[in-house]
Amino acid sequence: MDRNLAMEFVRITEAAALASSKWMGRGDEKAADQAAVDAMRKAFNSVRINGTVVIGEGERDEAPMLYIGEKVGLCESGLGAGVNCPDVDIALDPLEGTTICATGGVGAISVIAVAERGGFLHAPDTYMEKIAVGPAAKGAIDIDASPEENVRRVAKALGKDVSEVTVVILNRPRHEELIGRVRQVGARIHLIGDGDVSAAVATSWNETGIDLLLGTGGAPEGVIAAAALRCTGGDFQGRLKFRSNEERERAKRMGVTDLDRAYRLDDLARGNVMFCATGVTAGPMLKGVRFLPGRRAHTHSVVMRSQTGTVRTIEAEHSLDLKPVAVV
Ligand code: FBP
Repeated sequence: MDRNLAMEFVRITEAAALASSKWMGRGDEKAADQAAVDAMRKAFNSVRINGTVVIGEGERDEAPMLYIGEKVGLCESGLGAGVNCPDVDIALDPLEGTTICATGGVGAISVIAVAERGGFLHAPDTYMEKIAVGPAAKGAIDIDASPEENVRRVAKALGKDVSEVTVVILNRPRHEELIGRVRQVGARIHLIGDGDVSAAVATSWNETGIDLLLGTGGAPEGVIAAAALRCTGGDFQGRLKFRSNEERERAKRMGVTDLDRAYRLDDLARGNVMFCATGVTAGPMLKGVRFLPGRRAHTHSVVMRSQTGTVRTIEAEHSLDLKPVAVV
C-alpha cells in the first residue's frame, strides 16, 4: 500500500458529503444517510483497489450497499485489475452523525479509513467504551484506570491544571455517573449530541481545545477513530460493551474471543493506515459543505496516513453540473 490511497479516497468522501449535505436540516435522517451511501458506493468504482468493507453499513442482510464483506474498487469489477491493485480493508461511515445532518447540527462528517488486509478489528455493531487523546498526551491514558486518574494524567502530560482540561463526552443518560465524576475532579466538559469520531480526532487538533474523549459510543466508530489517531500520533483505547446476549453471540461469530478485552490502539488499527474525512456540517475540525452561487459547492477535508504522519487539509470547489473536480 505504497500509494497514498487516501488522496484518492478523499474524492469519495467529498462526493458523499456533497450528496448528504443537501439533506441538512430537513429532518430526514434516512434520506441523508441514503444519499451519502449511494454517492460513496458509486464513487468507489473509480478507485483502483481490491477493497473489502470490514466496517460498513451493517450485515449483508440489513444493508444493500457498503455492507460488511462487500468488495469495492475498480480491480474488484475486473476493469482495472492487474497493475497496482492493492488488497485493502476499508472501514467507512458515509454519514457519521445522521441526526446531526438531519438537524443541521455540529460536526457531521463522511469518513473512510484504509488498512492493509487484516489491519482493522472486525468490530461488531455494539457499543464500545472509549478513551482518546492527541499526541501530546500519548502514553498518559489507560482505559483500566478511573476517569479521575485519566483526567489527572492528561493534565500532567499537557502541563495544565486539571481545571484547564476539556473532556468531550456524548450527552447520554448512560454517562450521568461519568459526567458527575469528571465534574467532581474539576475538569471542563464539552457535551456533544452525536459524532464521537470527530470528537476523538479533535483531541489531536490544538485549536479545538478538546483534550480527552471519554465515554461509550458505537464500536465501529471506535475503529474508525483509532485509525485516525494512528495517523495523528495520538492514542485511543476501547472495550466492547454489550447490551444483550444476542450482541455477545454476534461478536463471537465475528471472531471476538475475549469479550472483555481492553483493545489498545494497534489492536484496533494496525500496520499502514490511512484516513480521510470531509465535513458535512461545520464542526470542530472541518467546515461543512457550502453551496456557492453558480451551481458550485465548497468542501473541506482532512487526509492523513500513519506511514508518514502527514496531515493534509484539502479545500475544494466543485461544479455541481460537471464531474466534481478538486481545486486545492
Ligand atoms: P450515526 O451516524 O450512526 O447516527 O452515529 C452517531 C453516533 O453519535 C456516533 O458518533 C456514536 O458512536 C453513536 O452514535 C452513539 O450511539 P447512541 O446514539 O446509541 O448513543
